[in-house]
Amino acid sequence: MRALSRVGEPVRWLASRARPRRGMGSSSAAGGRRDPGENPKVGRLRELFTGDAADGWEKSWEFGVTPWDLGKPTPVIEHLVRSGTLPKGRALVPGCGMGYDVVALACPERFVVGLDVSDLAIKKAKQWSSSLPNADYFTFLAEDFFKWIPSEQFDLIFDYTFFCALDPSLRVAWAETVNRLLKPDGELLTLIYLIHYR
Ligand SMILES: C[S@@+](CC[C@H](N)C(=O)[O-])C[C@H]1O[C@@H](n2cnc3c(N)ncnc32)[C@H](O)[C@@H]1O
Repeated sequence: MRALSRVGEPVRWLASRARPRRGMGSSSAAGGRRDPGENPKVGRLRELFTGDAADGWEKSWEFGVTPWDLGKPTPVIEHLVRSGTLPKGRALVPGCGMGYDVVALACPERFVVGLDVSDLAIKKAKQWSSSLPNADYFTFLAEDFFKWIPSEQFDLIFDYTFFCALDPSLRVAWAETVNRLLKPDGELLTLIYLIHYR
């Protein structure tokens, strides 16, 4: 398994809820960085996660509290698709949300599965994308990434704001699941963000 990680701006708005740190909610967090919880939408999102995580995600989609949503593909994916360097074959986007990255990756040489635990997210993803010219090259499934068993492994997994949004207690399970779903020579492309206090 070849893993690529790219370092960017910290996205720790949800993961950090699992272990609130000193200074949370203040304007200057440890190291002088801003707490994403200061963003009212992120604060609202945290309020929705009171019990079962899957319920929290469903509520976030139901109430339209989706501060991560770029409304377009992740810029690095557009760049990599243009560069022609990504594996062909089968690709998976776990926690795909509206599925912009799924659609951006899909082409005759690459079939893409977009997976999300939220029924509503998948419904929305299907609604906007079903009549696109490349619609034969992708599909959306409402499934739990950790439980889903596909018929075949993948040549590429693209994780953007999925790993970093999970509760940190799920990180080992995330790695085991990626390993299970990816072909031995498959490629994991994930945007991992440095967090200064962990
Ligand atoms: C922060 S959002 C990112 C969405 C998308 N990647 C984007 O960048 O727009 C995380 C997504 O992961 C989904 N999710 C959370 N836990 C999941 C799980 N166990 N299996 C599949 N999807 C999950 C949520 O419903 C949510 O849509």
